[in-house]
Amino acid sequence: MGAERIAAVDEVPADDTFLYTVADDAGEHREAILLSLSDGTVSSFLNYCMHWTDVKLDTGDGAPLRNGDVVCRKHAATFEADTGVCTHGPCEGAELDPVAVDVRDGDVYLVDDDYEFVRTGADAGDPADLSTDPGARLGF
Ligand code: FES
Repeated sequence: MGAERIAAVDEVPADDTFLYTVADDAGEHREAILLSLSDGTVSSFLNYCMHWTDVKLDTGDGAPLRNGDVVCRKHAATFEADTGVCTHGPCEGAELDPVAVDVRDGDVYLVDDDYEFVRTGADAGDPADLSTDPGARLGF
């Protein structure tokens, strides 16, 4: 799958997340988020928490940020915007699933071979829970 434009870098907010939808190799739609980084680049991850994988980080109105980290509204886990590593909370040490993006000439492109761009915004068909493991909810 080739590079597909997601949005202009200027459309990615500095104080919350930009939501978009991709399709995986099986054609399943998944939501993903873009995060504006302090160096002018952008990172991207699938839109679900590592604590309870059926919980979306961005529920359609932007996931909150604290000191540049993404905050899960459910139990306040925080994830580094650049690495996706959980630095605080019940899933500390876990990492968000990355989606490869690249910034070129002021635009953000999806460059991940595992995903195809579908649209900006949410996808009603995303079940959030990407795991087939019934133990996907870590103990809390
Ligand atoms: S579901 Fe996100 S911190 Fe618990």
